[in-house]
Amino acid sequence: MSTTRTVARVRLPFILAALIAVAGCSQQSGDAAASDQSAAPQDPVMARGESVYYANCVACHLPAGTGLEGAFPPLAGSDYLEGDRSRVIATILYGRQGPITVNGVEYNGVMPKFAHLNDAEVAAVVTYIFQSWGNDLPAMGPEEVAAVRAAPR
Ligand code: HEC
Repeated sequence: MSTTRTVARVRLPFILAALIAVAGCSQQSGDAAASDQSAAPQDPVMARGESVYYANCVACHLPAGTGLEGAFPPLAGSDYLEGDRSRVIATILYGRQGPITVNGVEYNGVMPKFAHLNDAEVAAVVTYIFQSWGNDLPAMGPEEVAAVRAAPR
């Protein structure tokens, strides 16, 4: 009898430890599943920005934002994005042409205008390019786009 008790006493902490370990693992795999989901944009603004990007920008700036050397400047790692935020908005609303230097490389092409996109769409696509491909710039709000649209050019 006493032998059984001893075994029980020895086993209980072991069983508890095993249970805690199993609970810890399933907790971890729950977290991993959650972060797998966030690999696809779950944030509604990022999801919207991605769809605006794929509908309007991807043909030239490409899926990874690399652009195409000699033709389309990159958005991934672009120093142009780190400057004046309203300049980025104006580029999208009004397009631009003529020489532009991005990361020390000169481009001289034509970017079409996207004035038909609404403020929320422009804000979402800017937030998407600001926060994708290693870019890490603050999100953009629709009110910033509205202000540029309202300003005299
Ligand atoms: C038809 C090709 C084309 C499309 C579509 C296009 N762009 Fe551009 N984009 C260009 C070119 C070319 C330039 C450089 C213009 C120049 O030489 O003045 C440029 C420049 C830019 C720049 C500034 C330079 C840089 O690389 O940081 C930004 C920001 C930008 N585009 C964002 C966008 C966004 C956002 C969209 C979609 C809403 C878009 N572009 C759609 C061709 C395009």
